[in-house]
Amino acid sequence: MKLCASRAFWLVACPSQGHEMLFDAHTRMVIRGGENIYPRFFESEQSVLLADRLCGLAGEGLDRAFFVSGGSEANESALKLARQYAVVRGQRTRAKVISCEPSYHGATLGALSATGDAHTLEIYGPMVRAMPKVPGPTTYRLPEGYTAYTHAMACADALETTIEREGPESVLAFMLEPIGGVSSGAVVSPEAYSCARPEGGPARH
Ligand SMILES: Cc1ncc(COP(=O)(O)O)c(C=O)c1O
Repeated sequence: MKLCASRAFWLVACPSQGHEMLFDAHTRMVIRGGENIYPRFFESEQSVLLADRLCGLAGEGLDRAFFVSGGSEANESALKLARQYAVVRGQRTRAKVISCEPSYHGATLGALSATGDAHTLEIYGPMVRAMPKVPGPTTYRLPEGYTAYTHAMACADALETTIEREGPESVLAFMLEPIGGVSSGAVVSPEAYSCARPEGGPARH
């Protein structure tokens, strides 16, 4: 792959990856000067326009955008945002992230700690904080004696039991792939799972 990075230092790293349209757009930004896309400190006309467009498509209540490099960083950011929210609300005990077995949440260490994959955790587990896992509401190769519905209900029970066992005040978040990624090959969890006992059960927490 041809990389055409016209500027690259800690404030700006904008490889246009050999794509003419991206390279031209980036060159125009550089020529205008002062337009940076590093979102932690700066904004650019392009990032504001893109954020507006995304929020317009995202639907009611979703009116801010935070740009990251991909899925792993998106999950890391979501977890950090949840933690920050808990801290500013005075709930410093909340730090555990419950997730499903199997699941995949990314390649970075924070995302790996929430990933439910025994083989991955056998290698990297000692480097991350072990997070609680619950059975995922799969619809593929169900355990014997279950329908998709009864299995979804059993998974919702397991989530509730895990929250109670871990201590609800220590739980920060529950991560679920509504459509499975690399861990479960696009398997969709049954609607019954997300609707499971909204008045009691996991939703209560
Ligand atoms: C459900 C899920 N979350 C996160 C990721 C990580 O995304 P990325 O590879 O863009 O970091 C993946 C990647 O396949 C995924 O399937």
